[in-house]
Amino acid sequence: MDSLLVKGGAPLHGEVTISGAKNSVLPIMAATLLTAEPCTIRRVPELSDVKFMGQILTSLGAEVKFEDNTLSVHAGKIKGVGDYDLIRKMRGSICILGPLLGRLRKAKVSLPGGCVIGSRPIDLHLKGLQALGAKISINGGYVVATAPRLVGNDLFLGGRSGPTVLGTGNVMMAAVLAEGVTIIESAACEPEVVDLAGFLNTMGAKISGAGSPTITIAGVSELHGADYEVIPDRIEAATFAIAAAATDGEVTLLGSRPDHLHAVLDKLREAGVKVERRGPALTVRRGGRLKPVDVTTLPYAGFPTDAQAQMMVLMALTSGISIITERIFEARFMHVSELARLGADIAIEGPSAIIRGGKPLSGAPVMASDLRASAALVIAGLIAKGTTLVKRIYHLDRGYENIDAKLRRLGARIERAAES
Ligand code: EPU
Repeated sequence: MDSLLVKGGAPLHGEVTISGAKNSVLPIMAATLLTAEPCTIRRVPELSDVKFMGQILTSLGAEVKFEDNTLSVHAGKIKGVGDYDLIRKMRGSICILGPLLGRLRKAKVSLPGGCVIGSRPIDLHLKGLQALGAKISINGGYVVATAPRLVGNDLFLGGRSGPTVLGTGNVMMAAVLAEGVTIIESAACEPEVVDLAGFLNTMGAKISGAGSPTITIAGVSELHGADYEVIPDRIEAATFAIAAAATDGEVTLLGSRPDHLHAVLDKLREAGVKVERRGPALTVRRGGRLKPVDVTTLPYAGFPTDAQAQMMVLMALTSGISIITERIFEARFMHVSELARLGADIAIEGPSAIIRGGKPLSGAPVMASDLRASAALVIAGLIAKGTTLVKRIYHLDRGYENIDAKLRRLGARIERAAES
């Protein structure tokens, strides 16, 4: 298990190219199961989650090749039963349920477990698939779904915390091969949902309205192969933007989609960070005294939960009181106790973290608990005095392509070390 040794104090300077979006690629990989023809996906980040999803597709019978950020999947002949342990390990693998049901009219997929960021139910996924005619039972830890016929329907997918991203994807992927028209109300509006719809439409699906709360899917009898490039990762872009501001450096993000980053950039500007846009390039620098801000995570186009931990580090640096309220995953504050080891003063009150910023941070050994918490700890290490050892960084490798190399090119003093 690797760790990262981060020496604080070096501001980040230079350009960084943003990789493809993890949360687009995973459901798009699952969508390749909908056709017997070969598919090519471009700008695929080299991540352990992508490798893992590739193994899941292979275990279902697909041929998968990955080279130079291009992934080829040929799901000529597949089976509907996923490997229990393989699927159980990764939450994102639940998105094979919809495509298996769409193509084979049956699926047996292990239930994804809860995880460190809070309970991760799949009731909305199942409700949506049932509305299309699937019979679903939970048996021996598996979700067992059958649907001799899938028939389009009007359905509402809003939950306690708002819409569901992968749930919307799952229902969309089953509905593309259903008879008739499906209308999903309270659909997730995230750019990754729009990207999945874009891929499905390139395969011959008829989806309109993706990106709005109402998605309409006119079922077709079959889909064909497709060649598609995924969108850049807005959370990776947000992470580098926050790191640039936190280290008092100046970083230009290349190849990002500024139109997917409005909420993050708006909060950074409110905090006093300078953001300049030249076409698709975004240059971020601190440019003066930071101001405390309050942030509430919300479904898109609100502030993303996946950038909450990173933003907390910037607020910990900023003199004054900032409040971050987490509305998507109630327990997503595992980074707080680790940031405290570096000297941050943060108290949790229900769904909110109260950050008394401006205390000096000094390096310490810390433990990464999930992907975005790990990114936050790395940013904290970059600004803390002395050396921070971030342990268990396999979380980071799940979702950030070459993050240490990218940071080193920007001037960070960061090294990978094998954990004893
Ligand atoms: N929810 C339910 N029932 C469901 C599904 C979700 O109550 O059936 C609740 C969840 O518990 C949560 C809220 O709805 O409170 C939103 O969850 P959502 O389903 O949208 O999350 P997800 O689709 O499982 C994706 C990303 C997450 C990201 C969330 C929210 C992938 C692979 N994962 O998860 O990404 O935080 O959307 O934007 O796309 C990450 O990249 O670090 C990450 C965790």
